[in-house]
Amino acid sequence: MKLKAPPGTEDILPAQAGLWQRLEATAREVFARWGYGEIRTPVLEFTSLFVRSIGEATDVVEKEMYVIGEGDDSLALRPEATASVVRAYLQANLHKVRAFQKFYYIGPMFRHERPQAGRRRQFHQMGIEAIGSLDPLLDAEVVTVACELFGAFGLSGFRLRLNSIGTPTSRRGYRELIRERLGRQAEALCPDCRRRLERNVFRILDCKRPACVEITRNLPSILDHLPEDEREHFRRVCSALRSAGVEFEEDPYLVRGFDYYTATVFEITHGALGAQDALCGGGRYDNLVADLGGPPLGAVGFAIGVERVLMALRESGQAEERPRLDVFVATVGGDVRPAAFTHLVALRRAGLRAEADYEGRSLKAQMRSANKLGARFVLIVGEDEARQGVFRLRNMATAEEKVLPDIQAVIAEATTDRGSNRCA
Ligand code: HAM
Repeated sequence: MKLKAPPGTEDILPAQAGLWQRLEATAREVFARWGYGEIRTPVLEFTSLFVRSIGEATDVVEKEMYVIGEGDDSLALRPEATASVVRAYLQANLHKVRAFQKFYYIGPMFRHERPQAGRRRQFHQMGIEAIGSLDPLLDAEVVTVACELFGAFGLSGFRLRLNSIGTPTSRRGYRELIRERLGRQAEALCPDCRRRLERNVFRILDCKRPACVEITRNLPSILDHLPEDEREHFRRVCSALRSAGVEFEEDPYLVRGFDYYTATVFEITHGALGAQDALCGGGRYDNLVADLGGPPLGAVGFAIGVERVLMALRESGQAEERPRLDVFVATVGGDVRPAAFTHLVALRRAGLRAEADYEGRSLKAQMRSANKLGARFVLIVGEDEARQGVFRLRNMATAEEKVLPDIQAVIAEATTDRGSNRCA
């Protein structure tokens, strides 16, 4: 029997969950403010949905999906959520209510990759999808939301790169051109890229191996080979971003790993992350709604990898989440414990974060726990206090002690100056 979480998965224990909750709450707030409504789709979908949308010759579909069963009924654990959101949008006929709709999601995704730092088999994404418009200002909005979100997380030092990759039709000429150019230097490419020459030549632009990078950097830019209307779309996206004060770099070699992308694509990376440095990826997918049986509607979105955001926050020293407690109820002697329990309940019912000792420890050990938990006050319940019917409350920041007449006075004292430490 294996008593470990499977490789590439991990438990989020209470000590880390606070930070997860903070990121999720921040994301929900930002997404709502920008007009995105939450959508929750199943983690299981028919495998064919991903094959059709992400593309047969992609790494994810070829080798990274967790598939259950075979044939038409086979199911897959979702490796991403864009396809699911479009599927749900069409299945619920939302496009008939109003074509333009904006969604956000937060949840686990699954890819059977080789686990390493920043690469998990179960990981979490927070993402948005805006469906039903071809407006370049919408691309700019989506990119801006991603940057705003990192700002709201308190994360700086990230890098945004942007490109336009056209449509399968409009990039055909460029594809043939680079296939021909790269084909001449096939010997110098890595084995993976040699395979990609036939199957998925654009992925070669994305290869990180120095030999391949050297070759691809001498290729002409895709932007010079797209039709004028597509170039104009990209110029408008860039100009809107500039006027919104969003810093970015144009990167003519940026490509994405899924077939559904068209036109604008972008990626946000962070230098603190090492090899798996992408925090966020996204772009337009103007053919996907129609490819999945809907009307021809443009769409654009992104997804952020939560584990990688946490890593970047940790690396830049911004992940500290000091636990905060309002009151620790410390007891001296076993006889007062039932009375202390009544106080504990009253404090919690009043909306305070309160804790007490359940392990029969000494007062000194209880004070240590109070400190560790970041308690602002300690209510000391001893036999004297119990006999006299008074409440001794110690302010942990000033070491000042007050003797108060009743629990209401304790609640009033502990409620003042709580700042953002509310739980009610
Ligand atoms: P993606 O680039 O495959 O795009 O994933 C988005 C983000 O998820 C990545 O930038 C990374 O932070 C995180 N991520 C991906 N794989 C892993 C992994 N194995 N372990 C940890 N984190 C990972 C998408 O998924 C698209 N659906 C994004 C999108 C939405 N495009 C348009 N709309």
